[in-house]
Amino acid sequence: MKQTPDIRPARGKLGVLTPGLGAVATTMIAGVLAVRKGLAKPIGSLTQMQTIRLGKRTDARAPLIKEFLDLASLDDLVFGAWDPIPDNAYESALKAGVLKREDLEPIADELRAIEPMPAVFDTDYVKKLDGPNVKQGANKRELAEQLREDIRRFKQEHGLDRVVMVWCGSTEVFLRPGPAHQTLEAFEKAMEENDPSIAPSMLYAYAAIMEGVPYANGAPNLSADIPALEQAAIERGVPICGKDFKTGQTLMKTVLAPAFKARMLGLRGWFSTNILGNRDGEVLDDPASFKTKEESKLGVLEHILQPKMYGDLYGDIYHKVRINYYPPRGDDKEGWDNIDIFGWLGYPMQIKVDFLCKDSILAAPIVLDLAIFLDLAHRAGMNGIQEWLSFYFKSPQTAEGLYPEHDLFIQHRKLKNTLRWMGGEEPITHLGLEYYE
Ligand SMILES: NC(=O)c1ccc[n+]([C@@H]2O[C@H](COP(=O)([O-])OP(=O)(O)OC[C@H]3O[C@@H](n4cnc5c(N)ncnc54)[C@H](O)[C@@H]3O)[C@@H](O)[C@H]2O)c1
Repeated sequence: MKQTPDIRPARGKLGVLTPGLGAVATTMIAGVLAVRKGLAKPIGSLTQMQTIRLGKRTDARAPLIKEFLDLASLDDLVFGAWDPIPDNAYESALKAGVLKREDLEPIADELRAIEPMPAVFDTDYVKKLDGPNVKQGANKRELAEQLREDIRRFKQEHGLDRVVMVWCGSTEVFLRPGPAHQTLEAFEKAMEENDPSIAPSMLYAYAAIMEGVPYANGAPNLSADIPALEQAAIERGVPICGKDFKTGQTLMKTVLAPAFKARMLGLRGWFSTNILGNRDGEVLDDPASFKTKEESKLGVLEHILQPKMYGDLYGDIYHKVRINYYPPRGDDKEGWDNIDIFGWLGYPMQIKVDFLCKDSILAAPIVLDLAIFLDLAHRAGMNGIQEWLSFYFKSPQTAEGLYPEHDLFIQHRKLKNTLRWMGGEEPITHLGLEYYE
């Protein structure tokens, strides 16, 4: 096994930059500020609340993850963002309508102080949005250089020790990896030539990696999921991960599908539909952005159920995902699933799931955990794709030739065993024969 890494201590302040200061980013920031003041609990966050079992079941050693490893503390986080819409974090949080005004008031001054930097934004990639707070530059490379300057200035102005970046911007139109994405040279040349295959999110990812800033992508667009940026991340010792936060319906799907497979129950069809009325829903109302999301949501069943291996059970599945923009609901999404399964002798059964969730409430702790775990990985000298963070994503980024692991329980075990390994502890296999010897 690879040797346990030496981890640099989490000394000083950690900057958390988000391209996008919308519903998810402001819910995360407001939450951290409220928790710091003792006004709320960080529910949903592994870095803040979860324990980790070490050694045998009989050892009774189960510290909090944050006590087991040296993680950045919430008090040391400093937030910054870019957004084409100039609203500060307080105004944006109010407009997003996720958190109540009475919960925002006690932290209003701190939120108002977070004003978005001008964004690299182009309506060719997000068609349903526009805003005036946008950078100008002769070409995409120049725009990326401006982002790099922003990162350096942010670090200097706040006296930060380290910085991480989590994409909380809108979902961009669907792009396939092409020639411009294969090598760093091709990518840089394409930026200079304003090649349309270079989306704004890629410029943020490039700027982060070149500045030695770990990068996570919370949306399904490619961003850092291209060979040029993966290679650059390895060469510069920068951890990266993505894509698309796994929050509501897909979280449930990656819990239920492994249960069907574990019990060898067949699946005939899975129809998933959503209504949501937030800005994200509006952006996804554009077919090109929806296509990016759809691809991300559809992949999970195939990888969990392995139809090639289990043709009788999963060889003929009808899988459909719909997202409907429905303004009255705001951030209160409703996700319905109708699942047609079959059991012994092929007898059919149905399961219905109706998840009345709050999208940004589910996403906020993910952003926080990713920021803190990416910083840990960076201090531990881990670079390139961080597959152990697949737990948080709908479309986990993996090394070339490796299929992604979507089963939430496998992902969770992988995450915790990676933490055990980082802390010099044995991984837990759950074999457990020793208790009966
Ligand atoms: N909330 C969830 O459960 C969830 C789950 C998975 C993925 N996501 C993704 O997270 C992202 C954020 O979601 P949200 O609900 O906060 O959306 P939102 O629309 O409230 O916020 C996104 C913000 O990004 C800004 N933006 C767009 N392009 C940008 C650019 N190039 N640079 C900087 N800012 C840019 C927009 O102006 C907007 O303010 C979306 O892509 C969404 O698909 C959310």
